[in-house]
Amino acid sequence: MARSYQSVLAFVIAFLSYSLYTYGPQVHRTLTVAGVLRRSPTSTAGLEEVIVIPDTIHCEDLHYYSPANVLFTACEDKLETRFGWFPALGNLDDPELGRRGRGSIHVIDVDTKKSQRLSFENFDTTFVTHGIDVVPDPSDPSAVYVFAINHLPHPTLSHQARSQIEVFHHVLGSPSTRHIRSVWHPLVRTPNDILGTAPDTLYVTNDHRHASGFKRTIEDLYRGATWTDTVRLQFSLHPSTDDASADVTASVALDRMHNNNGIGHGPAPDDVLITSCTAGVLHIGRLLTNGSIAVSESVEFDSIVDNPSYFADPYAQSSGVDHSGYLLPGLARAIEIGHTRTDCKATNAVIVWFAQLKTKGGRRRWEKRALFEDDGRRIRSASGAVLVAIDPAATGGVRKAWLFVTGFQSEGMVAVKVDL
Ligand SMILES: *[C@@H]1O[C@H](CO)[C@@H](O)[C@H](O)[C@H]1NC(C)=O
Repeated sequence: MARSYQSVLAFVIAFLSYSLYTYGPQVHRTLTVAGVLRRSPTSTAGLEEVIVIPDTIHCEDLHYYSPANVLFTACEDKLETRFGWFPALGNLDDPELGRRGRGSIHVIDVDTKKSQRLSFENFDTTFVTHGIDVVPDPSDPSAVYVFAINHLPHPTLSHQARSQIEVFHHVLGSPSTRHIRSVWHPLVRTPNDILGTAPDTLYVTNDHRHASGFKRTIEDLYRGATWTDTVRLQFSLHPSTDDASADVTASVALDRMHNNNGIGHGPAPDDVLITSCTAGVLHIGRLLTNGSIAVSESVEFDSIVDNPSYFADPYAQSSGVDHSGYLLPGLARAIEIGHTRTDCKATNAVIVWFAQLKTKGGRRRWEKRALFEDDGRRIRSASGAVLVAIDPAATGGVRKAWLFVTGFQSEGMVAVKVDL
C-alpha cells in the first residue's frame, strides 16, 4: 500500500516538474485565471451606488429583452437548495433537497429594478434553475418563449442528475408563464446554458464530461481536456406524449471544447458566443445552416468567465461614439470555489469584464477592462451580466449604463450605474 502510494507520489512530482519545465507559461496562465495570483478586490470603490434587487436569490443567468425593456432570470428562490444540490458545481450531495427545489422565472423591470416571480401554469414540480434564454414568439409580438435548464435528480440512480430543459411561453406584462413541454435527449448530459434560435430550436452546452470526482477536477484545471460539446436540439411544441424525449432530434454542433459553459448571442443573428469557463476564454463563432457552429476567434481573460452577453449600444449613431461590447462575468478567485460551493456563509469575489474590438490603422485589437469588481459582499459570485444604456439626454451627454449582475451563489443580484 505504502509502496504504491510512494510510487504515485513520485510519478506526480515527476509529472509536475516536467509540466512546469515544458508548460511554464501555461501553468502561469492557469494560476492567473484561477485567481491564485490575485488578491480579492477590497470593495466596489468608485461606483455611484450598488442596488441589491430584492427577491433574486441564487439566479445564475440573465438576459435583457430589449423590445419590452425587461430582464429575465431564473432563480432558486430559497437559500438552502443550492448548497446541497447543484450538479453544475459537481454538488450531488442531497438529491432529496434538490427534488424539493421550486425555483422560478423572474422578470425584472429595468427602470424600477423590481423583480417579479412569474407563477406557473401547468407546472408544479422540481425546478432547479441554471441557464436560460428568451426568444420572441413569431406569431405574437407581445409574447416570448423562455428556455430553462432544470437539474432534476435522477429518478433511479442515487446522487446523479437527469437534467433537462423546460420550455415556457410568457405573455409580456402578464404575471405568469405557461409550461409547454420538457425536452431531453441522451446528448444532453451536463447542460449549463442555452442559446435559443426559434421556439422549437436551441443550442445547449454540456459543461463537463464527468459529473463529479477527480476526472472532473482535471477538466477544470487542464485546458487540454477538450472533452465537452454544444448540442443542437429541435423539438415539437406539440409532442405526441408527455415524455421529455418525445419528438426531439439532436446533433453535436461543436465538439472537442474545454469546459464549454456559457453561450449567448452576438451582434448578428447568426453570431454565437461560447465561454470555456475555467480556461477564461471567450470563443466567438457563427451558427452554420447545417446545424454546426464554426468558431473564428478566441479571446483570453485573466479570470474564469461565465455566461457571455453582447451589449449593442442603441445610442451609437446619435451620440457619435459606439460603446458596444462584450460582457464576461467571472470569479476573482475561482480557486476558492472548491470549498465555498457547499458553504452558505462564504463569499466569492467577482469581476465583470467589458471587451471591445477596436480597429486602428487596419489593426484589430481587443480592449478589455474590469467594469465592476466586488469583494463578494454585495454580490457573491458573478455568472450573468448585461448592460442597459442610459439615454445621454438624461445625463447631460455623459455616456452611462446600468450594469446588472447575477451570481449563482448570491442572495441577490445587483444593479450599478457605470460609465461607458
Ligand atoms: C457543416 O459545415 C461545415 C463547414 O462547411 C463543416 O465543417 C461541418 O462538418 C458540417 N457539419 C455537418 C454536421 O455536416
